[in-house]
Amino acid sequence: MLSTRVGGLELESPLMTGSGTFGHDPLALSFLKEGDLGALVLKTVTPEPRTGNSPARMAEFPGGLLNSIGLENRGLEYWKESVAPLLEEVAVPVVGNAGGHTVEDFVAVSEAFSGMEGIAAVELNLSCPNVDGGLHFSTRADSAAEVVSACRRVLDKPLWVKLSPNVTDTVPLARACEESGADALTVCNTLLGLLVDWKSRKPLLGRGYGGVSGPAVLPIAMRLVHQVSSSVSIPVIASGGASRPEDVLAFLVAGASAVQIGTASFRRPDAISTIAAGMRSLLQKNGLVASDLVGSLKWDGGGEKPREN
Ligand SMILES: Cc1cc2nc3c(=O)[nH]c(=O)nc-3n(C[C@H](O)[C@H](O)[C@H](O)COP(=O)(O)O)c2cc1C
Repeated sequence: MLSTRVGGLELESPLMTGSGTFGHDPLALSFLKEGDLGALVLKTVTPEPRTGNSPARMAEFPGGLLNSIGLENRGLEYWKESVAPLLEEVAVPVVGNAGGHTVEDFVAVSEAFSGMEGIAAVELNLSCPNVDGGLHFSTRADSAAEVVSACRRVLDKPLWVKLSPNVTDTVPLARACEESGADALTVCNTLLGLLVDWKSRKPLLGRGYGGVSGPAVLPIAMRLVHQVSSSVSIPVIASGGASRPEDVLAFLVAGASAVQIGTASFRRPDAISTIAAGMRSLLQKNGLVASDLVGSLKWDGGGEKPREN
């Protein structure tokens, strides 16, 4: 009922973890029931260890979260020794997520993921707003094309690209990634934001600006999923604000083939299973399977028309 095909993978469910928002260890995965998680997307890995940004790194607000983790990770060597072996135990396809400052960084991580048994696909994080230069590759179509083509050459697996919402028009970026060999696009990373403590008159986060996620960004991600999926032929994976079964079904209608759940898992680590159960019940009541909904938006012609492919 939930099965889907996305970016070279057959998945039991369209629900995935959002990079950086869920563990890859048996304890984290024990919160989820079998058949509910379609794929486990891992936190971004960079070639060198990164200590991340100064605290505070996360702040809650009524619409979700503002974070500025700064891609903290222990680097590729540690990852190969300590994380990779655990992945062979994970029962669902695992998607590695690569980050970096230069084309060579992205290629180094992609090369490491290539040929690695436990990794089924690779998502390039072109769009982290929380590191200096983090948006370089996601705001210029020529830079995005360069990094995607270079990674495509070294990768023997499906290649997904995670786009930024922090641009005026995402479509040229999406098309450049498709033309450079991406098999799917994740739409989208967090939106650049700021929260301020009025009394101290300081930003709530140590770095000041951070990335907004959670229910507040849902309509923005929904619009971007629709715009991008109407403009490319490769599948789109939605990311941004989904916390209820209805949100996921709506993302499918808007054009997504799968949906990542991030901030909702911070509130409840079993959110993906709760959403999956709700989706099954809604689909069953309406005599549908999830794939019936993909790209089925009825547009009455009012307002701005969707783009043609
Ligand atoms: C605390 C936190 C850490 C994140 N770390 C990463 C990361 O390492 N790499 C990445 O591509 N996205 C990262 N993201 C973005 C999420 O994967 C997701 O795209 C975003 O939060 C929007 O989805 P949501 O509203 O369901 O959380 C992070 C988000 C949060 C809240």
